[in-house]
Amino acid sequence: MRMADFSHSGCFFVLCFLFSGQNLQTLGVSVGINYGQIANDLPTPTAVARLIQTINISRIKLYDANPDILTAFQRSGVDFIIAIGNENVVNMMDFTKAQEWLKKNVQPYINQTRITCITVGNEVLTGNDTGLMANLLPAMQSVYQALVALGLDRLVNVSTAHSVGILGNSFPPSSGFFRQDLAEYIQPLLNFHAEINSPFLINAYPFFAYKENPQSVSLEYVLFETNPGVTDPNTNLTYDNMLYAQIDSVYAAVRAMGHTDIDVAISETGWPSKGDSDEIGATLQNAATYNRNLMSRIAMNQGTPMNPSVPINVYVFALFNENLKPGPTSERNYGLFYPDATPVYDISLLGGQPFSSPSSFSTNLTAWNALGILILLIAILI
Ligand SMILES: *[C@@H]1O[C@H](CO)[C@@H](O)[C@H](O)[C@H]1NC(C)=O
Ligand SMILES: *[C@@H]1O[C@H](CO)[C@@H](O)[C@H](O)[C@H]1NC(C)=O
Ligand SMILES: *[C@@H]1O[C@H](CO)[C@@H](O)[C@H](O)[C@H]1NC(C)=O
Ligand SMILES: *[C@@H]1O[C@H](CO)[C@@H](O)[C@H](O)[C@H]1NC(C)=O
Ligand SMILES: *[C@@H]1O[C@H](CO)[C@@H](O)[C@H](O)[C@H]1NC(C)=O
Ligand SMILES: *[C@@H]1O[C@H](CO)[C@@H](O)[C@H](O)[C@H]1NC(C)=O
Repeated sequence: MRMADFSHSGCFFVLCFLFSGQNLQTLGVSVGINYGQIANDLPTPTAVARLIQTINISRIKLYDANPDILTAFQRSGVDFIIAIGNENVVNMMDFTKAQEWLKKNVQPYINQTRITCITVGNEVLTGNDTGLMANLLPAMQSVYQALVALGLDRLVNVSTAHSVGILGNSFPPSSGFFRQDLAEYIQPLLNFHAEINSPFLINAYPFFAYKENPQSVSLEYVLFETNPGVTDPNTNLTYDNMLYAQIDSVYAAVRAMGHTDIDVAISETGWPSKGDSDEIGATLQNAATYNRNLMSRIAMNQGTPMNPSVPINVYVFALFNENLKPGPTSERNYGLFYPDATPVYDISLLGGQPFSSPSSFSTNLTAWNALGILILLIAILI
């Protein structure tokens, strides 16, 4: 539901905090969110810090180490994954440069802002730069050594995020394996993850699988809606959604390389609320359903069929729609929020409380606005 009509009112910005705050707080959802900034119209980091606190999100992933953001979230209790961009991976192979990077981007902030992980590069192994692929692990090792030298290695993990495109096979999940041509990079990378106990991060978008093949991929299956599911013939485990199948196929691929000692986490997943005419499935309704259902499963501490006692660890993509992202329309429409901090869809639906349908959302908006104005008036009077 677009609320552009209200967005010019300065007051509404504040009301949105109140309004959206009502929604997730009741759930106690422990969900991470990607805070991307490829846009020229986003709220200030201070305003974002307020928004995040009202929606009770406790983990944020950045694509850089923006000092204004790390400062705005001082003592917020929010955990951060920060990033070293692909363009800087080669530099990090130099221990001195890695240490300088940490001294500039981590050390000054870490006493006040919890930085729990640094990603070195994003989707490097599915890119086309073989030099960069070869440099990835040495850069991660160098960043780790620099953390050790600064006494920060127990506070901060070192990882890198991959696309599911590194898999050569993902179905059935128990038969997952990595692309043969990437094995020379992935095997030593996994050994390193195991050695330093850091998570293996995957960006997974069931949306892409659906978009490519809407005739044969069930929409209910990709959106976590009720469906018969798919049974893995090797394990007899039934999967009722594609994301869990993807996570378990990564676990199987990791195991096929000899490791059962590495955590897999989802560093990005999401669904666009809008797309070009050929981007089947990119709708407001589907985006709301995907994220609502995902969040309620996170709130249930659900694990995957292969690891039912290990709750899924997920960072939703993304906090805001990002107007400067290149590519198809969908790329600019993954946000839970518009840049004016109004929700793109009824995120109170996350978990089904307290509003049960978009229509009750709109009728109740008036009531919430009235409440917000009342609170504002009280605040002003005090
Ligand atoms: C916020 O979420 C945490 C779990 O991450 C939960 O323990 C806490 O109670 C929630 N706070 C509110 C105000 O709902
Ligand atoms: C952070 O805290 C540690 C110990 O609590 C202290 O030694 C260090 O100087 C602090 N660093 C900064 C930048 O404040
Ligand atoms: C490699 O990928 C980048 C970004 O994805 C692209 O801009 C570039 O044209 C590609 N280069 C080649 C040789 O394909
Ligand atoms: C680092 O990752 C490991 C493996 O997932 C996890 O157990 C640990 O808590 C993480 N450390 C921090 C500081 O988050
Ligand atoms: C899966 O179920 C079938 C039929 O019930 C059974 O024959 C088979 O042994 C089971 N396989 C596993 C791995 O449990
Ligand atoms: C407002 O929402 C509540 C649930 O939170 C619902 O019971 C009530 O019917 C809604 N009011 C209107 C006018 O739709």
